[in-house]
Amino acid sequence: MNPKLRPHLRLGVNIDHVATIRNARGGLHPDPVRAALLAAEAGADGITAHLREDRRHITDDDLDRLVGSISLPLNLEMAATDEMLAIALAHRPHAACIVPERRAERTTEGGLDAAGQHNTLAPIVARLKAAGIRVSLFVAPEMHQLDAAARLGAPVVELHTGPYSHAEGDQVAVQLERLRIAAEHGVGLGLEMHAGHGLTFDNVGPIAAMPQIAELNIGHFLIGEAVFTGLGPAIARMRAAMDASG
Ligand code: PXP
Repeated sequence: MNPKLRPHLRLGVNIDHVATIRNARGGLHPDPVRAALLAAEAGADGITAHLREDRRHITDDDLDRLVGSISLPLNLEMAATDEMLAIALAHRPHAACIVPERRAERTTEGGLDAAGQHNTLAPIVARLKAAGIRVSLFVAPEMHQLDAAARLGAPVVELHTGPYSHAEGDQVAVQLERLRIAAEHGVGLGLEMHAGHGLTFDNVGPIAAMPQIAELNIGHFLIGEAVFTGLGPAIARMRAAMDASG
């Protein structure tokens, strides 16, 4: 694909950690919904929120208010459970990104095992799709996981960029190449490719430069940077970094 022909590379802003800060005091401030509205003004193309089983950041009330307040497409990150399926079907977000979830993890550490969990995922993907929700699976950049996502009928795959983001030295190029090959393979399978996890101003460039990638989902770094510069400027700078290499 000629990068110049690629449609606008979308930036989804993940607001989970605004809720993390709020929850540290158990009150109402800072409000992730206000952050979502600010992100829209600052040029975000979508809002992402992860309702975790333990509600450690986003809560059910946040989700209700997000659905009622934002005009940008909402991407709900969710575990493949009956509870989350029911919540997604009740709220009808634009998209649902199925992620693995383990209570003890600090963040989403690995990709979903789309290959090994076919039978668990198939009915969930089918019900979300039937409700008109665009399903995405968050997977490691491994061919068999992309093949499995395609077999499941998921239209979108989000590649886990965590290992790339945390890589040092020679490993950066190795991880980047894994992502590049996976992105190409995914497009060949007819999948829309997204990417995210651990992206910053400094490492977003090579990912944004991949013409196969249609959307990046970025959270923790932007919320952290907002402490220093404000959320709007942080998002604007990320947008500029994406545009400079896209
Ligand atoms: N994409 C997915 C599927 C995620 O689970 C997360 C983290 O919640 C992100 C993107 C964003 O990662 P980060 O907060 O490190 O930018």
